[in-house]
Amino acid sequence: MRCYIVTGAARGLGLGLARAITERGGQLIALGRGESHELDALGADMPGYRFVAIDLAQADLVSELAEEVFGSLASLDWDGVYLINNAGVVDPIAPAGRYEDAALLHCLSVNLSAALQLSNAFLRHFQHRRGDRRVLNISSGAGRNPYPSWSAYCASKAGLDMYSRCVGLEQAALADGIRIASLAPGVVDTGMQADIRRAHPDDFPMLAQFQRYKAEGELSDPDQCGREILDLLHSEHIGFGAILNIRDFR
Ligand SMILES: NC(=O)c1ccc[n+]([C@@H]2O[C@H](COP(=O)([O-])OP(=O)(O)OC[C@H]3O[C@@H](n4cnc5c(N)ncnc54)[C@H](OP(=O)(O)O)[C@@H]3O)[C@@H](O)[C@H]2O)c1
Repeated sequence: MRCYIVTGAARGLGLGLARAITERGGQLIALGRGESHELDALGADMPGYRFVAIDLAQADLVSELAEEVFGSLASLDWDGVYLINNAGVVDPIAPAGRYEDAALLHCLSVNLSAALQLSNAFLRHFQHRRGDRRVLNISSGAGRNPYPSWSAYCASKAGLDMYSRCVGLEQAALADGIRIASLAPGVVDTGMQADIRRAHPDDFPMLAQFQRYKAEGELSDPDQCGREILDLLHSEHIGFGAILNIRDFR
């Protein structure tokens, strides 16, 4: 049996991933602030499903919980274990200097610190286990290209990419290292895109472009994207520190 630990699985791309995992018969451990009806219904039919309630912005709780979750999973036998750091927030959307530190810290905590903390615990508990073990960090094109008014988001995703590259080097040097990659999922029709379209035009000079993506049907379907990501997760492309863009595989 394959086990998948997915953050932010209640909605958006995370829910698409959860659906793809269910379709393929994997076991899902979902981490997030709260369940949705959709995730709840999915879990009801899935043997071994567990929802772990956690606000990923709360660093102390994340470390504690990561120990508990990965500690208990590591004592079981799996054909493969996969951590998908998917949860993310785009806010604050505004030029630097015009947002509160609290919004900046929240963005960095959810998008970057929590993903690194979970990966840290995953690596600690699964380093010496046998079988397929992989970490997939859901990044963004915004971690690779600068966007005005997204400085916190871009910095968090660039950090996630660099983390994947560094850990990839470490793991590649081991006889049986854990695979790790960062993946940009393209533009997906989720709540995050709706948040972006709600930005104030004075705060976000690229607003019209993102409104156009929706109006012209350029956003991809989260369920379809979830399936594509799962295919990629199980492919050789993951490698050790690969920086991937889903568009290169379509
Ligand atoms: N959508 C796109 O076009 C796009 C493009 C590039 C990259 N991405 C990346 O793809 C990933 C998924 O984004 P999405 O588009 O699916 O966004 P979304 O629809 O807004 O969903 C975000 C998910 O993250 C969870 N989350 C947010 N803050 C959290 C917190 N403090 N603690 C725990 N969970 C939290 C949310 O849970 P709650 O229900 O509790 O809020 C939700 O499940 C993100 O990393 C995003 O940066 C998305």
